[in-house]
Parts: sequence; structure tokens; C-alpha cells
Amino acid sequence: MRPTPVGSDVMAKRIELKKLSIFYGDFKAVEDVDMMIEPRSVTAFIGPSGCGKSTVLRSLDRMLDVTPGAKVEGEVLLDGVDLYGKHIDPVRVRHQVGMVFQQPNPFPTMTIRGNVLAGLALNKRRLSKSEADEVVETSLRGSNLWEEVKDRLDRPGSSLSGGQQQRLCIARAIAVKPEVLLMDEPCSALDPISTLAIEDLIQQLKEDYTVVIVTHNMQQAARVSERTGFFNIAGTGKPGHLIEYNDTETIFSNPDEAQTEDYITGRFG
Ligand SMILES: Nc1ncnc2c1ncn2[C@@H]1O[C@H](COP(=O)(O)OP(=O)(O)OP(=O)(O)O)[C@@H](O)[C@H]1O
Ligand SMILES: [Mg+2]
Repeated sequence: MRPTPVGSDVMAKRIELKKLSIFYGDFKAVEDVDMMIEPRSVTAFIGPSGCGKSTVLRSLDRMLDVTPGAKVEGEVLLDGVDLYGKHIDPVRVRHQVGMVFQQPNPFPTMTIRGNVLAGLALNKRRLSKSEADEVVETSLRGSNLWEEVKDRLDRPGSSLSGGQQQRLCIARAIAVKPEVLLMDEPCSALDPISTLAIEDLIQQLKEDYTVVIVTHNMQQAARVSERTGFFNIAGTGKPGHLIEYNDTETIFSNPDEAQTEDYITGRFG
């Protein structure tokens, strides 16, 4: 059977960062990031540990709101609308922007089915049983997990392998039909086979979503993304900067900046 396209009704969005600086208390973690992230594409963030990749990612779904002392300056625009505008509800933003973390984090005692529906359960409207069944199947097909779990949807999420748990988390993220999908090192806890499965999945997801992925794996960035942003820090305590942002092919074959070249060839970082 042909997989149901996930979210043919999903509206992938363009993300624009304008002079984005992010603080944790007095510490400026990233400074003056300008960036345009195209819809229906995969953008990779690379750079050494501590340069602010996760920080920038977390600013895109307003997760920093729940971090005490975190402050955002500049603009994060989603199709031209400022995510940090006065009238914007952060809960609504988190429905438009889904996040997948480094460690698969399914709710362990919740069933596979319950995990997929977990994000929707926060919505006020209750789904009928048949609507819920459809969301579960479509989301699990969308994350390439359906065939493996369709006969055990009532088993706990923790009964799955690590790679399956990560695909379950992706199903949970896409169940709410976000417009943007953020992934922070989604494969770093996975074996090579599961990693390839997730990379294949990312290639499919970009048909519907704007995907941003943080990765320490250069080959992965080169394999899955169209555009790559290289972040760096000048030293401990200094803010991270976006050093170079370009087509992935250019970044890996002919970067403009010496720092980028040093990083991708493993001379530091
Ligand atoms: N909640 C926080 N409170 C204070 N400082 C933080 C917080 N989160 C991150 N930082 C600091 O902000 C800087 C950027 O961190 P961030 O996690 O964005 O880096 P990263 O590029 O994702 O690194 P890694 O590759 O190790 O994941 C670091 O100096 C980090 O210590
Ligand atoms: Mg990080």
C-alpha cells in the first residue's frame, strides 16, 4: 500500500532571523545571527560544541521562554510574522514548530498510540476514536514506523528500540501538523542503520516541512541538507556567531571562510 502523504495540507514556512542575539542572564550565547531558511528544504547547523546551535534552534519554537534568565533580541520571523511579537501565544507557536531531541524521549509508560497523540491531547478539542486512529496511522506512516508497530500500538513506548523510539518521537512531532520541524542531533544516540532510516525520513519530510537539523556529523549534514550554517565561537565566554551560511555543497567543497574550511577538514573543533 502506498504511504499516505503526511500533511499534504501542511504549510511549510520560511524562517527569517534578523540580528538575533540570545542571552542566558548576562552571558551572550549568540550574537547577530541573520539567516533565511527556506520552506520545504533541509538546513543543517554545524559547529563546535558551545557555539550556540541548540540555543538558536530553541529560539525557533520559543522553548527559551521556559528557561529562566534566557532573553532573545532581534527577530525570528515565520513567514514574516515575528514569533516574539506581543500578541503571539507561545503554546500556539509550539504547535506550528515541532522539536525532536537528541535522546529519544517518548513517554515511557504511555502506549505507542498514546505517545503519537500526546501533543494533540493538549488541544482543547477532543478527537473521535476514528479521527484519532487516522492521526496515529498517518503520523506513524510519515515517520516510517507504521509497519513495525501497527500490531502493537497498545504496548508502551519504552518497548521500542532506540531508533524506533526516535521515529516515534518524530511521529509525535508531526501528529500536530507543524509547519517547521526542528531536530537537535536526532541521530547521535542511534546505530548506523537507524541513522540511515532517519536520514531517509528527513528527505521525505522536507516535501512537507521546513526542516532544521543540528548535527555533529559532517557526512550527515552533507547527505541530508541543501543549506548549511556554520557557527563558531572566538573563545570561551564569547558569543557564538554564524560564520558562513551557504549551499551545503559549497560549504563542504569550497567554503568562503578559512574557519569553515578548518572545521570541516577537522583541523579543530
Ligand atoms: N540554560 C542555559 N543556561 C545558561 N547557559 C546556557 C544554557 N544553555 C546553554 N548555555 C550556554 O550557551 C552556550 C551555547 O550553548 P548551546 O547548547 O547552544 O551550544 P551547542 O552549539 O548546541 O553545543 P553542543 O554542540 O555541545 O550541543 C554555551 O556556552 C552554553 O554553556
Ligand atoms: Mg547542542
